[in-house]
Amino acid sequence: MYPSFYQGNTPAALVEAYGSPLYVYSENILREKCRVMKNFCPYPHFNVNYAIKANSNLSLLNIVREEGLRADVSSPGEAMAALAAGFAPSDVFMIVNNAAPGDFTFAAEKNLPVSVDSLSQLATYGRLNPGRDICIRFNTGIGAGHHKKVVTGGDDTKFGILPGDIPEVKGLLKEYSLSLTGINHHIGSQYAQELYLVGAKALIKIAKQFEDLNFLDFGGGFYIPYHKNDGEQPYDLQPVGEGLAKLMHNFSAEYGKDVTCMIEPGRYIAAECGVLLGTVHAVKQIGLNRYAGCDIGFSVFARPTLYDAHHDIEVFGADVNAPHQLVNIVGNQCETGDYIAKNRPLPPLTEGNIIAVQDTGAYGYSMSSQYNMRLRPAEILISADGSVKQIRRRETYKDVLAGMQKMY
Ligand code: LLP
Repeated sequence: MYPSFYQGNTPAALVEAYGSPLYVYSENILREKCRVMKNFCPYPHFNVNYAIKANSNLSLLNIVREEGLRADVSSPGEAMAALAAGFAPSDVFMIVNNAAPGDFTFAAEKNLPVSVDSLSQLATYGRLNPGRDICIRFNTGIGAGHHKKVVTGGDDTKFGILPGDIPEVKGLLKEYSLSLTGINHHIGSQYAQELYLVGAKALIKIAKQFEDLNFLDFGGGFYIPYHKNDGEQPYDLQPVGEGLAKLMHNFSAEYGKDVTCMIEPGRYIAAECGVLLGTVHAVKQIGLNRYAGCDIGFSVFARPTLYDAHHDIEVFGADVNAPHQLVNIVGNQCETGDYIAKNRPLPPLTEGNIIAVQDTGAYGYSMSSQYNMRLRPAEILISADGSVKQIRRRETYKDVLAGMQKMY
């Protein structure tokens, strides 16, 4: 927990004013994370593309853009958000997977750089947009991540073109007169960071098989400490950034050209600037299990249910000096897998207490849904001066019913 997160605002007052559950973001922390990433790699031709899938709220995107980052988007919708936030089209890199032809037409109309990750998509892109620039995502065989569902390199993932397919790649580039301006990869999310350099070396090996690339993009995946309550410290990224700079210096020297180095952090930029507040509405004991039921279901926050992800919990309104009890924090959804924390030692909770789920700025709201026809929450931003702004309103029942027609 960042000591200055709320800047004098109290969680109870925020919930009172904006409803519960509620996503709360800190402008100061977001800016700090952007700056760390901007200074990550001491190589003169270095760009940071924020992976907006982590959090695409327009107000946050605007801050990220002001900090001098660019955008990495995975869909036309994310591209629209980046453009709406004011990013220049040339700074919106669209890295798509199994895109429909219409997605490529969209990218061409908006003049967005595109990366494809299969031979068939390269052919589709070439047929639709002959003579254009294109980038290619490779699968170097190296993959890593906090859960097998987020490992994006190696055999057990759908992503990337294999190095063995480079002759076919060259054939398609020629057939459609496409210029390969850059190559990219992303080995996965949240892993031991030394692997970032192992992956980078593998991508550089592939780069040497192409002439005249302008950039190499090494993807995201940067680690953040989710176990701060257990004393977990931030990863020391300096050796990784310095290692990457060295690799790029050597590569550019050998290649005979200043090739740009790009990275695509999502989680690192957005996770720690966000806290999700919720309210306890029921407590009960079933056998050995104690439950505190709150209004944060997995439609609001999916990571624990999807990946067994750990998020530190802070509670407000409970007697923090009372002996702690092991408790399951569960939501209001009609599934047993609906939980936020399992057997967590916390002060005894009662109805009305507030729960603050930490480090939820990334892959929180962006993965929320309307399951059980629950309303998605509001999002608020604590500005640099401590004032609070609502940056997305809570949904209404009208929103939940919108788009449907009653035909029978
Ligand atoms: N670049 C590409 C091509 C990606 O697919 C991703 C994430 C990123 C960059 C950003 O990765 P990051 O820096 O955030 O690790 N929902 C999961 C994470 C899935 C990430 C998917 N791709 C989670 O909540 O852990």
